[in-house]
Amino acid sequence: MSPAGHSTAMLPVSLLENSSLLICPVCAASLSISEDHPAVECTGCRRTFPVDNGIPLLFWPSNWTDKVDVTELVKSFYEQTPFPNYDDLDSPESLRLKAEQGMFARLLTEQIPFGSRILEGGCGTGQLSNFLGLTWGRSVFATDICLNSLQLGHAFRERFQIENVTFMQMNLFRPIFKPDSFDFVISNGVLHHTSDPFLGFQTLVRCLKPGGYVLIGLYNSYGRLTTDFRRVIFRLTGDRLTVLDPRHRVRGLSDLRRHAWFQDQYKHPHESKHTIDEVLSWFDRVGVEFINSIPKASVSQAFSSGERLFDPNLRGSALDHLLVQTRMLLSGGREGGLFVMIGRKKG
Ligand SMILES: C[S@@+](CC[C@H](N)C(=O)[O-])C[C@H]1O[C@@H](n2cnc3c(N)ncnc32)[C@H](O)[C@@H]1O
Repeated sequence: MSPAGHSTAMLPVSLLENSSLLICPVCAASLSISEDHPAVECTGCRRTFPVDNGIPLLFWPSNWTDKVDVTELVKSFYEQTPFPNYDDLDSPESLRLKAEQGMFARLLTEQIPFGSRILEGGCGTGQLSNFLGLTWGRSVFATDICLNSLQLGHAFRERFQIENVTFMQMNLFRPIFKPDSFDFVISNGVLHHTSDPFLGFQTLVRCLKPGGYVLIGLYNSYGRLTTDFRRVIFRLTGDRLTVLDPRHRVRGLSDLRRHAWFQDQYKHPHESKHTIDEVLSWFDRVGVEFINSIPKASVSQAFSSGERLFDPNLRGSALDHLLVQTRMLLSGGREGGLFVMIGRKKG
Protein backbone atom coordinates (compact mmCIF):
# COMPACT_ATOMS: atom_id res chain seq x y z
CA MET A 1 0.00 0.00 0.00
CA SER A 2 1.13 3.55 -0.72
CA PRO A 3 1.02 6.23 2.02
CA ALA A 4 -2.31 7.43 0.59
CA GLY A 5 -3.76 3.94 1.08
CA HIS A 6 -3.77 2.89 -2.55
CA SER A 7 -2.25 -0.40 -3.59
CA THR A 8 0.19 0.24 -6.40
CA ALA A 9 0.04 -2.78 -8.67
CA MET A 10 2.00 -2.72 -11.93
CA LEU A 11 1.07 -0.10 -14.50
CA PRO A 12 -0.12 -1.42 -17.87
CA VAL A 13 2.65 -1.77 -20.45
CA SER A 14 0.56 0.14 -23.00
CA LEU A 15 0.58 3.12 -20.61
CA LEU A 16 4.33 2.95 -20.09
CA GLU A 17 4.84 2.80 -23.86
CA ASN A 18 2.69 5.91 -24.36
CA SER A 19 3.76 7.85 -21.28
CA SER A 20 5.08 10.75 -23.40
CA LEU A 21 1.43 11.65 -24.19
CA LEU A 22 0.57 12.37 -20.58
CA ILE A 23 0.15 15.82 -19.08
CA CYS A 24 -0.70 17.01 -15.61
CA PRO A 25 -4.44 17.73 -15.16
CA VAL A 26 -3.53 20.72 -13.00
CA CYS A 27 -0.70 22.53 -14.80
CA ALA A 28 -0.47 20.68 -18.17
CA ALA A 29 3.29 19.95 -17.76
CA SER A 30 4.54 16.47 -18.72
CA LEU A 31 3.99 13.59 -16.31
CA SER A 32 6.68 11.15 -15.41
CA ILE A 33 5.93 7.52 -14.59
CA SER A 34 8.23 4.69 -13.69
CA GLU A 35 7.63 0.95 -13.84
CA ASP A 36 9.51 0.32 -10.60
CA HIS A 37 7.66 2.84 -8.47
CA PRO A 38 4.17 3.05 -9.86
CA ALA A 39 3.13 6.57 -9.05
CA VAL A 40 2.71 9.44 -11.45
CA GLU A 41 4.60 12.66 -10.88
CA CYS A 42 4.24 16.04 -12.56
CA THR A 43 7.49 17.45 -13.89
CA GLY A 44 6.07 20.99 -13.56
CA CYS A 45 4.11 21.44 -10.31
CA ARG A 46 5.73 18.27 -8.76
CA ARG A 47 2.35 16.89 -7.63
CA THR A 48 2.28 13.12 -7.18
CA PHE A 49 -0.79 11.20 -8.27
CA PRO A 50 -1.49 7.78 -6.72
CA VAL A 51 -2.11 4.58 -8.62
CA ASP A 52 -4.88 2.27 -7.44
CA ASN A 53 -4.27 -1.35 -8.47
CA GLY A 54 -2.90 -0.30 -11.84
CA ILE A 55 -5.35 2.62 -12.35
CA PRO A 56 -3.63 6.04 -12.25
CA LEU A 57 -5.85 8.44 -10.30
CA LEU A 58 -5.51 11.64 -12.31
CA PHE A 59 -8.91 13.16 -11.60
CA TRP A 60 -8.83 16.87 -10.90
CA PRO A 61 -11.93 19.04 -10.31
CA SER A 62 -12.96 21.63 -12.88
CA ASN A 63 -12.90 24.58 -10.43
CA TRP A 64 -15.36 26.70 -12.41
CA THR A 65 -16.54 30.00 -11.02
CA ASP A 66 -18.98 30.84 -13.82
CA LYS A 67 -21.21 27.73 -13.76
CA VAL A 68 -22.66 25.14 -11.44
CA ASP A 69 -20.35 22.12 -11.36
CA VAL A 70 -22.26 18.82 -11.39
CA THR A 71 -19.13 16.64 -11.57
CA GLU A 72 -19.12 15.52 -7.91
CA LEU A 73 -22.88 14.90 -7.98
CA VAL A 74 -22.58 12.75 -11.11
CA LYS A 75 -19.44 11.02 -9.84
CA SER A 76 -21.10 9.93 -6.59
CA PHE A 77 -24.16 8.73 -8.54
CA TYR A 78 -22.01 6.41 -10.64
CA GLU A 79 -19.82 5.34 -7.69
CA GLN A 80 -23.05 3.87 -6.27
CA THR A 81 -24.33 2.51 -9.58
CA PRO A 82 -21.48 1.83 -12.03
CA PHE A 83 -22.83 1.84 -15.58
CA PRO A 84 -23.48 -0.30 -17.59
CA ASN A 85 -21.85 -2.99 -15.37
CA TYR A 86 -21.19 -6.57 -16.45
CA ASP A 87 -23.38 -9.63 -16.72
CA ASP A 88 -22.44 -12.52 -14.44
CA LEU A 89 -20.91 -14.63 -17.21
CA ASP A 90 -19.39 -11.87 -19.32
CA SER A 91 -16.26 -12.81 -21.27
CA PRO A 92 -14.55 -11.57 -24.43
CA GLU A 93 -16.82 -13.94 -26.37
CA SER A 94 -20.00 -12.51 -24.83
CA LEU A 95 -18.77 -8.96 -25.53
CA ARG A 96 -18.33 -10.03 -29.18
CA LEU A 97 -21.82 -11.52 -29.31
CA LYS A 98 -23.38 -8.38 -27.84
CA ALA A 99 -21.43 -6.24 -30.30
CA GLU A 100 -22.84 -8.32 -33.16
CA GLN A 101 -26.35 -7.61 -31.91
CA GLY A 102 -25.78 -3.90 -31.27
CA MET A 103 -24.00 -3.26 -34.62
CA PHE A 104 -22.26 0.01 -33.59
CA ALA A 105 -19.42 -1.67 -31.65
CA ARG A 106 -19.00 -4.30 -34.37
CA LEU A 107 -18.73 -1.68 -37.12
CA LEU A 108 -16.28 0.28 -35.00
CA THR A 109 -13.95 -2.61 -34.35
CA GLU A 110 -14.07 -3.72 -37.99
CA GLN A 111 -13.29 -0.23 -39.32
CA ILE A 112 -10.82 1.30 -36.86
CA PRO A 113 -7.47 0.76 -38.62
CA PHE A 114 -4.55 -1.23 -37.23
CA GLY A 115 -2.24 0.82 -35.04
CA SER A 116 -4.86 3.41 -34.02
CA ARG A 117 -4.70 5.18 -30.70
CA ILE A 118 -8.15 5.57 -29.13
CA LEU A 119 -9.42 7.67 -26.23
CA GLU A 120 -12.74 6.89 -24.60
CA GLY A 121 -13.94 9.84 -22.50
CA GLY A 122 -16.42 8.54 -19.91
CA CYS A 123 -15.94 4.79 -20.45
CA GLY A 124 -18.12 3.74 -17.51
CA THR A 125 -17.38 0.08 -16.77
CA GLY A 126 -15.35 -0.10 -19.96
CA GLN A 127 -17.20 -2.63 -22.16
CA LEU A 128 -16.51 -0.73 -25.38
CA SER A 129 -12.85 -0.06 -24.56
CA ASN A 130 -12.26 -3.67 -23.54
CA PHE A 131 -14.03 -4.85 -26.68
CA LEU A 132 -11.97 -2.57 -28.93
CA GLY A 133 -8.85 -3.71 -27.08
CA LEU A 134 -9.53 -7.33 -28.05
CA THR A 135 -8.08 -6.50 -31.47
CA TRP A 136 -4.32 -6.57 -31.42
CA GLY A 137 -2.34 -3.51 -32.57
CA ARG A 138 -4.40 -0.75 -30.92
CA SER A 139 -3.83 1.38 -27.84
CA VAL A 140 -7.06 2.16 -26.02
CA PHE A 141 -7.23 4.66 -23.15
CA ALA A 142 -10.42 4.24 -21.13
CA THR A 143 -11.08 7.20 -18.86
CA ASP A 144 -13.82 8.12 -16.41
CA ILE A 145 -14.35 10.04 -13.19
CA CYS A 146 -15.89 7.04 -11.42
CA LEU A 147 -13.29 4.80 -9.76
CA ASN A 148 -15.78 2.04 -9.04
CA SER A 149 -16.60 1.74 -12.77
CA LEU A 150 -12.93 1.88 -13.74
CA GLN A 151 -12.14 -0.92 -11.27
CA LEU A 152 -14.78 -3.16 -12.87
CA GLY A 153 -13.41 -2.45 -16.36
CA HIS A 154 -9.83 -2.92 -15.21
CA ALA A 155 -10.70 -6.21 -13.45
CA PHE A 156 -12.21 -7.53 -16.70
CA ARG A 157 -9.09 -6.41 -18.56
CA GLU A 158 -6.85 -8.19 -16.05
CA ARG A 159 -8.94 -11.35 -16.01
CA PHE A 160 -8.86 -11.72 -19.78
CA GLN A 161 -5.40 -10.15 -20.29
CA ILE A 162 -6.53 -7.42 -22.65
CA GLU A 163 -3.07 -5.86 -22.66
CA ASN A 164 -3.60 -2.85 -24.92
CA VAL A 165 -6.30 -1.14 -22.80
CA THR A 166 -5.39 1.28 -19.99
CA PHE A 167 -7.97 2.47 -17.45
CA MET A 168 -7.32 5.92 -15.96
CA GLN A 169 -9.31 8.24 -13.74
CA MET A 170 -9.75 11.56 -15.56
CA ASN A 171 -12.22 14.43 -15.56
CA LEU A 172 -12.69 15.14 -19.28
CA PHE A 173 -12.63 18.88 -18.51
CA ARG A 174 -9.10 18.40 -17.08
CA PRO A 175 -7.49 16.29 -19.80
CA ILE A 176 -4.39 14.25 -19.04
CA PHE A 177 -3.29 13.90 -22.67
CA LYS A 178 -1.35 16.27 -24.90
CA PRO A 179 -3.31 17.94 -27.71
CA ASP A 180 -3.41 16.03 -31.04
CA SER A 181 -2.69 12.64 -29.41
CA PHE A 182 -5.47 10.36 -30.68
CA ASP A 183 -6.74 8.93 -33.96
CA PHE A 184 -10.20 8.35 -32.45
CA VAL A 185 -12.00 10.00 -29.55
CA ILE A 186 -15.21 8.31 -28.41
CA SER A 187 -17.61 9.64 -25.81
CA ASN A 188 -20.93 7.87 -25.68
CA GLY A 189 -23.67 8.95 -23.28
CA VAL A 190 -21.38 11.22 -21.26
CA LEU A 191 -21.46 14.92 -22.20
CA HIS A 192 -25.18 15.26 -21.39
CA HIS A 193 -24.29 14.41 -17.78
CA THR A 194 -21.87 17.34 -17.50
CA SER A 195 -22.22 21.05 -16.68
CA ASP A 196 -21.16 22.20 -20.15
CA PRO A 197 -21.47 19.62 -22.97
CA PHE A 198 -20.06 21.94 -25.65
CA LEU A 199 -17.01 22.77 -23.54
CA GLY A 200 -16.57 19.03 -22.93
CA PHE A 201 -16.76 18.41 -26.67
CA GLN A 202 -14.15 21.12 -27.35
CA THR A 203 -11.83 19.63 -24.74
CA LEU A 204 -12.14 16.14 -26.23
CA VAL A 205 -11.56 17.40 -29.78
CA ARG A 206 -8.35 19.07 -28.62
CA CYS A 207 -7.00 15.59 -27.77
CA LEU A 208 -7.70 14.43 -31.35
CA LYS A 209 -5.06 14.50 -34.12
CA PRO A 210 -5.93 16.56 -37.21
CA GLY A 211 -7.68 14.08 -39.51
CA GLY A 212 -8.80 12.01 -36.50
CA TYR A 213 -12.42 11.03 -35.86
CA VAL A 214 -14.65 12.02 -32.97
CA LEU A 215 -17.76 10.00 -32.06
CA ILE A 216 -20.23 11.60 -29.67
CA GLY A 217 -23.39 9.95 -28.32
CA LEU A 218 -25.99 12.24 -26.73
CA TYR A 219 -29.60 12.14 -25.58
CA ASN A 220 -31.82 13.52 -28.30
CA SER A 221 -34.41 16.18 -27.43
CA TYR A 222 -37.07 14.31 -29.41
CA GLY A 223 -35.94 10.70 -29.02
CA ARG A 224 -35.73 11.04 -25.23
CA LEU A 225 -39.37 12.14 -24.81
CA THR A 226 -40.58 8.54 -24.44
CA THR A 227 -38.13 8.03 -21.55
CA ASP A 228 -39.26 11.33 -19.99
CA PHE A 229 -42.84 10.11 -20.16
CA ARG A 230 -41.99 6.78 -18.53
CA ARG A 231 -40.02 8.61 -15.81
CA VAL A 232 -43.16 10.56 -14.87
CA ILE A 233 -45.22 7.34 -14.76
CA PHE A 234 -42.62 5.67 -12.52
CA ARG A 235 -42.55 8.66 -10.22
CA LEU A 236 -46.34 8.73 -9.94
CA THR A 237 -46.59 4.98 -9.33
CA GLY A 238 -43.64 4.66 -6.92
CA ASP A 239 -41.62 2.69 -9.49
CA ARG A 240 -44.34 0.16 -10.12
CA LEU A 241 -44.97 -0.56 -13.79
CA THR A 242 -41.24 -0.86 -14.50
CA VAL A 243 -42.38 -3.42 -17.06
CA LEU A 244 -43.05 -0.38 -19.30
CA ASP A 245 -39.30 -0.03 -19.80
CA PRO A 246 -38.28 -2.15 -22.83
CA ARG A 247 -34.91 -3.04 -21.26
CA HIS A 248 -36.77 -4.49 -18.26
CA ARG A 249 -38.17 -7.18 -20.53
CA VAL A 250 -34.80 -8.17 -22.04
CA ARG A 251 -33.80 -11.67 -20.97
CA GLY A 252 -30.35 -12.64 -19.72
CA LEU A 253 -29.44 -9.28 -18.09
CA SER A 254 -27.87 -9.57 -14.64
CA ASP A 255 -29.71 -7.86 -11.79
CA LEU A 256 -26.78 -5.44 -11.50
CA ARG A 257 -27.09 -4.42 -15.16
CA ARG A 258 -30.85 -4.11 -14.98
CA HIS A 259 -30.58 -1.94 -11.89
CA ALA A 260 -27.79 0.19 -13.43
CA TRP A 261 -29.90 0.81 -16.54
CA PHE A 262 -32.98 1.78 -14.51
CA GLN A 263 -31.04 4.18 -12.30
CA ASP A 264 -29.18 5.70 -15.26
CA GLN A 265 -32.33 6.26 -17.29
CA TYR A 266 -34.87 7.27 -14.66
CA LYS A 267 -33.06 8.43 -11.51
CA HIS A 268 -30.15 10.43 -12.84
CA PRO A 269 -29.38 13.67 -10.95
CA HIS A 270 -28.35 15.58 -14.09
CA GLU A 271 -28.97 15.26 -17.82
CA SER A 272 -29.42 17.54 -20.80
CA LYS A 273 -30.81 16.88 -24.29
CA HIS A 274 -29.50 17.88 -27.70
CA THR A 275 -30.38 17.96 -31.39
CA ILE A 276 -28.61 17.12 -34.64
CA ASP A 277 -28.58 20.83 -35.63
CA GLU A 278 -26.97 21.76 -32.33
CA VAL A 279 -24.16 19.22 -32.62
CA LEU A 280 -23.58 20.24 -36.25
CA SER A 281 -23.12 23.81 -35.01
CA TRP A 282 -20.56 22.49 -32.45
CA PHE A 283 -18.73 20.76 -35.31
CA ASP A 284 -18.66 23.98 -37.35
CA ARG A 285 -17.44 26.07 -34.43
CA VAL A 286 -14.44 23.87 -33.64
CA GLY A 287 -13.42 22.84 -37.16
CA VAL A 288 -14.87 19.34 -37.30
CA GLU A 289 -16.29 18.10 -40.60
CA PHE A 290 -19.54 16.11 -40.37
CA ILE A 291 -19.02 12.50 -41.50
CA ASN A 292 -21.89 10.31 -40.35
CA SER A 293 -24.56 9.86 -37.71
CA ILE A 294 -26.84 7.26 -36.18
CA PRO A 295 -29.58 7.70 -37.22
CA LYS A 296 -28.58 9.26 -40.56
CA ALA A 297 -28.96 13.04 -40.71
CA SER A 298 -30.62 12.95 -44.15
CA VAL A 299 -33.91 11.14 -44.75
CA SER A 300 -32.63 10.13 -48.19
CA GLN A 301 -30.03 7.83 -46.59
CA ALA A 302 -30.41 4.75 -44.40
CA PHE A 303 -28.01 3.14 -41.98
CA SER A 304 -27.05 -0.35 -43.15
CA SER A 305 -25.54 -3.38 -41.43
CA GLY A 306 -22.48 -2.97 -43.68
CA GLU A 307 -22.29 0.78 -43.06
CA ARG A 308 -18.95 2.49 -43.76
CA LEU A 309 -18.88 4.53 -40.55
CA PHE A 310 -16.10 6.87 -41.64
CA ASP A 311 -17.21 7.61 -45.21
CA PRO A 312 -18.69 11.13 -45.63
CA ASN A 313 -22.49 11.45 -45.70
CA LEU A 314 -25.03 14.17 -46.36
CA ARG A 315 -25.52 16.66 -43.49
CA GLY A 316 -29.24 16.90 -44.26
CA SER A 317 -31.44 19.99 -44.01
CA ALA A 318 -33.23 21.33 -40.92
CA LEU A 319 -36.38 19.60 -42.24
CA ASP A 320 -34.47 16.32 -42.60
CA HIS A 321 -33.31 16.60 -38.99
CA LEU A 322 -36.82 17.29 -37.76
CA LEU A 323 -38.13 14.24 -39.61
CA VAL A 324 -35.27 11.99 -38.51
CA GLN A 325 -35.66 12.98 -34.86
CA THR A 326 -39.45 12.66 -34.97
CA ARG A 327 -38.92 9.16 -36.30
CA MET A 328 -36.71 8.46 -33.25
CA LEU A 329 -39.60 9.50 -31.04
CA LEU A 330 -42.17 7.44 -32.96
CA SER A 331 -39.99 4.34 -32.83
CA GLY A 332 -40.14 4.49 -29.03
CA GLY A 333 -36.83 6.22 -28.31
CA ARG A 334 -34.67 3.11 -28.38
CA GLU A 335 -31.44 3.14 -26.30
CA GLY A 336 -32.94 5.96 -24.23
CA GLY A 337 -33.14 8.24 -27.26
CA LEU A 338 -29.39 8.32 -27.87
CA PHE A 339 -28.02 9.58 -31.20
CA VAL A 340 -24.41 9.40 -32.33
CA MET A 341 -22.59 12.03 -34.39
CA ILE A 342 -19.29 11.26 -36.12
CA GLY A 343 -16.94 13.99 -37.29
CA ARG A 344 -13.40 14.41 -38.61
CA LYS A 345 -11.06 17.07 -37.24
CA LYS A 346 -9.90 19.30 -40.07
CA GLY A 347 -6.17 19.35 -40.74
C1 LIG B 1 -24.15 6.77 -18.97
S1 LIG B 1 -22.50 6.44 -18.53
C2 LIG B 1 -21.84 5.95 -20.11
C3 LIG B 1 -20.74 4.96 -19.98
C4 LIG B 1 -20.23 4.40 -21.31
N1 LIG B 1 -19.74 5.45 -22.17
C5 LIG B 1 -21.29 3.61 -22.02
O1 LIG B 1 -21.75 4.02 -23.09
O2 LIG B 1 -21.69 2.57 -21.49
C6 LIG B 1 -21.78 8.07 -18.32
C7 LIG B 1 -20.36 8.01 -17.78
O3 LIG B 1 -19.80 9.32 -17.92
C8 LIG B 1 -18.92 9.54 -16.83
N2 LIG B 1 -18.68 10.98 -16.68
C9 LIG B 1 -19.57 11.93 -16.32
N3 LIG B 1 -18.96 13.14 -16.24
C10 LIG B 1 -17.66 12.94 -16.58
C11 LIG B 1 -16.52 13.79 -16.66
N4 LIG B 1 -16.59 15.10 -16.36
N5 LIG B 1 -15.36 13.26 -17.03
C12 LIG B 1 -15.26 11.92 -17.32
N6 LIG B 1 -16.30 11.06 -17.23
C13 LIG B 1 -17.49 11.57 -16.86
C14 LIG B 1 -19.68 8.89 -15.67
O4 LIG B 1 -18.86 8.63 -14.57
C15 LIG B 1 -20.26 7.64 -16.32
O5 LIG B 1 -19.42 6.53 -16.17
